[in-house]
Amino acid sequence: MPSQTENRKQDHIQICLEKNVQARHATNGFEDVFFVHKALPEIEKDKINLSTVAFNHNFSAPLIVGAMTGGTPKAMKINAVIAEAVEEMGLGMGVGSQRVAIEDPKLEKTFSIVREKAPTAFLIANIGCPQLVQGYGVKEAKTAVDMIEADALAIHLNPLQEVVQPEGETNYTGALEKIGEIAKALDIPVIVKETGAGVAAEEAKMLENVGVAGIDVAGVGGTSWAAVEYHRAKETQDESCQRFGEVFWDWGIPTAVSVAEVTQSVDLTIIASGGVRTGIEVAKTITLGADLSSLTTPILRPATKDVKEVKKTLELIIEELRNTMFLIGADSIQKLKKTPIVLVGKTAEWLRMRGFHPELYARRKKGKHT
Ligand SMILES: Cc1cc2nc3c(=O)[nH]c(=O)nc-3n(C[C@H](O)[C@H](O)[C@H](O)COP(=O)(O)O)c2cc1C
Repeated sequence: MPSQTENRKQDHIQICLEKNVQARHATNGFEDVFFVHKALPEIEKDKINLSTVAFNHNFSAPLIVGAMTGGTPKAMKINAVIAEAVEEMGLGMGVGSQRVAIEDPKLEKTFSIVREKAPTAFLIANIGCPQLVQGYGVKEAKTAVDMIEADALAIHLNPLQEVVQPEGETNYTGALEKIGEIAKALDIPVIVKETGAGVAAEEAKMLENVGVAGIDVAGVGGTSWAAVEYHRAKETQDESCQRFGEVFWDWGIPTAVSVAEVTQSVDLTIIASGGVRTGIEVAKTITLGADLSSLTTPILRPATKDVKEVKKTLELIIEELRNTMFLIGADSIQKLKKTPIVLVGKTAEWLRMRGFHPELYARRKKGKHT
């Protein structure tokens, strides 16, 4: 019989495929981030170099597929398809929470398939913060890493999801200390990732102080876990959780804001995610200071089909990134990072209110850091 966690994971995939789980009124903030178009780019589009190095690994473009799944036969197929695509393209991917397979080793194959299909791609193992509070430690973290021969371990933070689901695990006491213990014990980078509500400067600094190597901000503006739980609650006629899902649907820090706050506060490798949907937005995340961008939900449907569909989706995003770089005259990721941008509206206002300086991005000279 499938466990409660396996059923829940299956529900999540089904809901994300069939229902609207994207932010409704909140936006990812990238509409406030403008490149200054260059009518004279003075570069050749075909010579643009998208390759980059992050976590000491070479990526053909600054793009990974976010943590999604594992634990069921359908999940295994999704993982296998994404892994094959990112291997062929020189990108990376995260697997979903490995708790199910740590608790039931029969399910390991649904995760380990990714290393079989992707012998050289950057693969990120995944465990959840609530499990750390409940007793998971270095041993379980190593089990997750070994299971997929991971290049990095992600510890996910999902307090929003936990407050809107009936079986929510709402104790985060001591989580930071546990994260620090794991970061010190592992010989691969530990990344702390949100799941759609963003990371603020204060938490980023706390995470840097305990020794994590990277942060995936996963801000609001894309997939909403309150929305996913709203749909689950509706099906089970759980009126209070349905209401919480509705009320907290758009909760969180917009992705653009979170990337700016975090990159201005810590010296870590930063992954930008949460509603990143186009190559223009990928370019904006890099110019705001991120090292990699990550997309999750846009890859789910193609991954239920085949490798070709996943590659097609990722190739379009990469071509949009290349087009953007052409239009701003940036022929490498290094140059993209230093390109001036204009921040307006709520994003600029938020940053100013919180003591950051949005105008620095516009004053930046190509070739110089702000
Ligand atoms: C079906 C599904 C399952 C997910 N499962 C996990 C998970 O197990 N662990 C995790 O860290 N993030 C998980 N996520 C969150 C994503 O990695 C990502 O942070 C979030 O969806 C925001 O990115 P997006 O707007 O591009 O979808 C999941 C997302 C989806 C859509």
